[in-house]
Amino acid sequence: MSIDLDAFWMPFTANRQFKKEPRLLARADGMYYWDDGGRQVLDAASGLWCVNAGHNRAPIVKAIQTQAAELDFAPTFQMGHPKAFELAAALVKIAPPGMEKVFFTNSGSESVETALKMAIAYHRARGEGTRTRLIGRERGYHGVNFGGISVGGIVGNRKTFGTLLAGVDHIRHTHDPARNAFSVGQPAFGAELADDLERLVALHDASTIAAVIVEPVAGSTGVLLPPVGYLQRLREICDRHGILLIFDEVITGFGRTGTPFGALTFGVTPDLMTLAKGITNGCVPMGAVLCQRKIHDAFMNGPEHLIEFAHGYTYSAHPLACAAALATLQLYQDEGLLTRAGELQAYFGECVHALKSEANVIDIRNIGLVAGIELQPRPGDPGKRAYDVFTDCYRQGVMVRVTGDIIALSPPLIVQRAQIDHIVDTLRTALRRAA
Ligand SMILES: Cc1ncc(COP(=O)(O)O)c(C=O)c1O
Repeated sequence: MSIDLDAFWMPFTANRQFKKEPRLLARADGMYYWDDGGRQVLDAASGLWCVNAGHNRAPIVKAIQTQAAELDFAPTFQMGHPKAFELAAALVKIAPPGMEKVFFTNSGSESVETALKMAIAYHRARGEGTRTRLIGRERGYHGVNFGGISVGGIVGNRKTFGTLLAGVDHIRHTHDPARNAFSVGQPAFGAELADDLERLVALHDASTIAAVIVEPVAGSTGVLLPPVGYLQRLREICDRHGILLIFDEVITGFGRTGTPFGALTFGVTPDLMTLAKGITNGCVPMGAVLCQRKIHDAFMNGPEHLIEFAHGYTYSAHPLACAAALATLQLYQDEGLLTRAGELQAYFGECVHALKSEANVIDIRNIGLVAGIELQPRPGDPGKRAYDVFTDCYRQGVMVRVTGDIIALSPPLIVQRAQIDHIVDTLRTALRRAA
């Protein structure tokens, strides 16, 4: 039976090219997908940075099935259900110290909107209502809603959508290949780029700034690691000026960088952090914002029968998502997955950095089980070389991700060494063919 591909307008996809040469994934298990023709494809991208424990994991599947038959839906506006509270407590247990309150959403984008609103409302609740300005970073990705693209720094995601949110500014990105190309782990140079926040404080005044949001490792823009000392410096500047620090951990959360969260890997605790993706191993849409108790407590005033924070989603803490997330967290713990990337980091890094000698590779960056391999763009045809590598790898049976001329690898945290070898060998072949 042939499928009619016409109606589905695909997200973040080159629709016309895709429909000429479709890549249809029909089944998944462990490290692999199988396409609609039964061909096996090694997943080197954890689906979309989310399937951290690998595909089709029995405890998660069972938890979702059981939950669907027991409690399909329960509102969490003025009502509740036990697993929502159980999950919030379980998240706090593994979160960086001080992150004690959890607000549930359905995606990374919604987590970002929630965190930005929470930051502005927090200052207002404390009598600092002038703090409404939001600061992002160039090249940042914070999802696709209006707040997220406003603080985001990827031009292609912003330029076609009008004037965006008012009162937003950006600090400089940290990508500096002239000084840091082919760094293994965190780059040595660039901590001083955090001082760009001081420039914006001087320009706008701290009394107008609510929060700054950054990804501990910028993922979607092509895996940019924070220079040594950079996040510490950002934290210090925020503290000095009463600005909230938001870490967008939608990708770095749940073990990607070698510890449960980027905040722990880099030793910097934010005021709020956004999560999604790996929270349910990608099985059911879910996101969350974790925040320090002081943020939450600032809202807890006024008459007790009134709603303190006018925000939430119909599906916040959906029972199926909570069941999936609880089973996921248990699986992560049982199999030591939240620290496994740290154990494999040296081997993974060594394999990936061996691609340095291939033609057109101009930078390689890695931490935990994530790597970015940046290619020299084809003259006058930006993005085409990496796109060719992506389609070539897929034809060879390995799914990688590309963004611009950067290839991103983020395999499930259950990946074996032989599978890392296979991913890198496949990539090498594709790079040579794309020379
Ligand atoms: C750092 C970051 N924030 C937010 C998002 C948006 O998440 P979602 O696609 O679930 O809305 C992403 C997605 O890749 C992300 O990487």
